[in-house]
Amino acid sequence: MNKTPLHRRAFLTAAGAALATPALAQTNAPDPLITKVQPWANGLGDGVVDKPYGVPSKFEADVIRRDVEWLTVRKESSVSFTPLHALDGVITPNGLCFERHHGGVAHIAPDKHRLMIHGLVDKPLVFTMDELKRMAGRVNRAYFLECAANTGMEWKGAQLNGCQFTHGMVHNVWYVGLPLKVLFERAGVKTNGKWVLAEGGDNSLMTRSIPMQKALDDCMIAWNMNGEALRPEQGYPLRLVVPGWEGNMWIKWLRRLEIGDQPWEQREETSKYTDLLPDGRARHFTWVMDAKSIVTNPSPQAPLRAKGPQVLSGLAWSGRGSIKRVDVSFDGGRNWVTARIDGPVMPLSFVRFYVEFDWDGRELLIQSRAMDDTGYVQPTKDELRKARGLNSIYHNNGVQTWLVRGDGETENVEIS
Ligand code: MTE
Ligand code: CO
Repeated sequence: MNKTPLHRRAFLTAAGAALATPALAQTNAPDPLITKVQPWANGLGDGVVDKPYGVPSKFEADVIRRDVEWLTVRKESSVSFTPLHALDGVITPNGLCFERHHGGVAHIAPDKHRLMIHGLVDKPLVFTMDELKRMAGRVNRAYFLECAANTGMEWKGAQLNGCQFTHGMVHNVWYVGLPLKVLFERAGVKTNGKWVLAEGGDNSLMTRSIPMQKALDDCMIAWNMNGEALRPEQGYPLRLVVPGWEGNMWIKWLRRLEIGDQPWEQREETSKYTDLLPDGRARHFTWVMDAKSIVTNPSPQAPLRAKGPQVLSGLAWSGRGSIKRVDVSFDGGRNWVTARIDGPVMPLSFVRFYVEFDWDGRELLIQSRAMDDTGYVQPTKDELRKARGLNSIYHNNGVQTWLVRGDGETENVEIS
């Protein structure tokens, strides 16, 4: 095993203060938590009107989005990361969805927002939010959104000590809105209308070209996430959903869809979101997010706290279809066990996997490897580097390794 140097950063919480409290002490002394009335039961609790919009328990104050200070200069055009190590199930709570803004968060009153459809159409249209919400054909779907730059800092070796930072530019949300197909049928796309330009209404005026085929296949506009209105950070009042494709195309604060006969070659699809190969050519229009998985527990921010029974848990997703299987290794990829997937297995959405195991305190090298229903198998990081070289930032879906030490502390490492 060749462990690349770890750059522990000040922002990391001290990973696992050694093996903490042993499981319940086996004594005959009465446990006051059982025998005594506790302060929270002694007298009335808070009233209902105190919190018209509920917030998590104060004991969950550490479960928050975090950023990496050195990564971007300005908070307004920066990124925050989903605390994957502190979540379970497959839905990312709205307040914890990672954010990526290129011009800060715009605050747009819904009655001031318009969506324009124009270009190669029979009838250019402008919609208000009210009009969109009265249209037939509404859909209700769960999809993951992964920034193409997720895990991008790891191309050159193990960097960041926590799955929040290595893998937290991803979230999985239920959306409600309308298929683009419904809008385009209303506008009447001309036969040479082969591309769609989506534009955001924020300061960055983010623009991306999307092939018409994809737009008609499963793209949607969404105004609702996980049951409530989009959060401002996620593009309130309206965002584009481009299932399985890189997050950059999911234009937030969506205000314009132009139909054209060729791609626009905007900044975000030329100088950005392309990957320079060793031979000098660049990968271009790398839209699909390939199958990927990550063990969220244990991980550097969620180390093992005691010997004995453990529940390993993680997430897998694929931009090509459904996750078919996830394998987990405890010895750096020599032996694999098939993880138990529980909960719904939906295409282009997170699946949650578990492996129950017994830990005797020995060092572990934990990995997970996802397979999707196209037969695609998540590659190792070395396989990726062999194919793409070392200039890439985007599309790093290589297998992650966590080293669990004898004291339970867990670190980001690489095996070669
Ligand atoms: N849309 C607009 N209008 N402005 C932006 O800065 N960032 C893009 C995309 N859409 C962006 C945008 C990028 S790079 C990503 S990864 C996703 O939005 C992030 O979505 P999120 O903030 O909901 O996580
Ligand atoms: Co992005």
